[in-house]
Amino acid sequence: MDYLQLDDSKLIGVGLHRKCYEHPENSNLCIKVGFNSNPKEDKREINYYKFLNRRAISWAMLPKFHGKEKTNLGEGVVFDLIRDEDGSVSKTLEYYLEEGTQEVAQENIINALDDLKEYLLQELILTMTLKPKNIIYQKYKNGSGKLIIIDNIGTSDFIPICKFSNTLAKQKILRKWKRFEQSLIQKYKLDKEFFN
Ligand SMILES: Nc1ncnc2c1ncn2[C@@H]1O[C@H](COP(=O)(O)OP(=O)(O)OP(=O)(O)O)[C@@H](O)[C@H]1O
Ligand SMILES: [Mg+2]
Repeated sequence: MDYLQLDDSKLIGVGLHRKCYEHPENSNLCIKVGFNSNPKEDKREINYYKFLNRRAISWAMLPKFHGKEKTNLGEGVVFDLIRDEDGSVSKTLEYYLEEGTQEVAQENIINALDDLKEYLLQELILTMTLKPKNIIYQKYKNGSGKLIIIDNIGTSDFIPICKFSNTLAKQKILRKWKRFEQSLIQKYKLDKEFFN
């Protein structure tokens, strides 16, 4: 089988561990290739996605996982590529928070945060530390939008009982969410009153 050819013309974003490219054969997919990545962590992520696939969750706020593919830069993992309603690749929540209220009103962000929290609790999706650079804001033409978590889901607990206990999962999700909210309020001076 031929290797997919990736180059910087298709580069979408770079994290601490992976480079994310638009898939050369399908503009609605992205492919992530590790450069600093920990094989254990990569495996953990894939296993968690497989676990979610078996549970038949709603993928409304999570990109679907489409397996692995070989590339000229090493093995990559394929996910849905998140695009705005106007077709451009969506930007991170960090981008919108740092840029202030120029492009998206705070109210829109807060509403989207509320929806994301409800979604995680509804589908019992575990997250590790939530960071605005790992959440994408998919913007609609009227400025409203929805948040999609693109990185750092699942759990690194040695014995992951929260994967099998709904009560423990909910507690964990709420704990992570609380810390996330506090970090946003602190760092970006978000209006506390909006949070419940
Ligand atoms: N599904 C996606 N749709 C659109 N953009 C994406 C998607 N996945 C990743 N990106 C972009 O690529 C960047 C890097 O991807 P990702 O967060 O997976 O890399 P990482 O190295 O694992 O990150 P970290 O530094 O948090 O460990 C993201 O910050 C985002 O800008
Ligand atoms: Mg990341």
